[in-house]
Amino acid sequence: MIICKTDEQVEYIRQSAMLVSKTLAEVASLLKPGITTLFLDQTIGNIIKEYGAEPSFLNYKGYPFNSCISVNDVVVHGLPGKYELKEGDIVSIDIGIFFQGWHGDQAYTFAIGDPGPETIKMLKVTKESLYKGIEKAVAGNRIGDIAYAIQEFTEKQHGYGVVRELVGHGLGRKLHEDPQVPNFGRRGSGPKLKEGMVLAIEPMINMGTKNVYTEPDGWTVRTQDGKPSAHFEHNICVRKQKAEILSDFSIIEQAELKNTWLSTIQPVAMS
Ligand code: MF3
Ligand code: CO
Repeated sequence: MIICKTDEQVEYIRQSAMLVSKTLAEVASLLKPGITTLFLDQTIGNIIKEYGAEPSFLNYKGYPFNSCISVNDVVVHGLPGKYELKEGDIVSIDIGIFFQGWHGDQAYTFAIGDPGPETIKMLKVTKESLYKGIEKAVAGNRIGDIAYAIQEFTEKQHGYGVVRELVGHGLGRKLHEDPQVPNFGRRGSGPKLKEGMVLAIEPMINMGTKNVYTEPDGWTVRTQDGKPSAHFEHNICVRKQKAEILSDFSIIEQAELKNTWLSTIQPVAMS
């Protein structure tokens, strides 16, 4: 069942979504070679506590951390640990925040030092594909229109692999609500979009094969060919003319630009 939100409920989700964006921006300013992914996760936990909020992922289906931190060929659900970031790594940070009864959930992939032009291109294309999907998130369209736009751009135009096993989702009182929002599919297919639907749109795009596997830890999802993967996630509300983006990448991008350890993934489209 897809729950359409009232304007008042959307404002609550925006508050949670903005806390996630703020947390990602704070974390962006800390990124540098030598810090561990566990340190990042603990910092994220502390920031969320300071907001008087809770990390949505902690204990979700038994998930044992505040965030998912996925380096290089890890697609999603990377477990924070003693791994130290190094120059040339890309790191996807995925954070969910539960605040006043509502969830926000976003991801952003950062480049530490210079991972090389091919990888930077993949990050840009993945980010741009997110906006191509968002453009289709208007009342009267269908989920498949979002899905097709993302797949067409990343897979058909750029030859990357769209992960099939993991999808975006509705967002609200629960972290994962209906509908599923795949990053692949047919135009005109799937549930019809209505004003007030709140979605987490999150392309997970691989440089090489679309195929992935899950490690024996039950969480870590990696590309089968060991090539890198990118993940960007926004929270949006479906409207009549143009989707309303509830999250804010501009504060993350400002922090990214300021931090000289990071290569900037210049917004191809503006958040
Ligand atoms: N951000 C992920 C999503 O969008 C959720 C992480 S799964 C968890 O679905 F178990 F870590 F919470
Ligand atoms: Co999500």
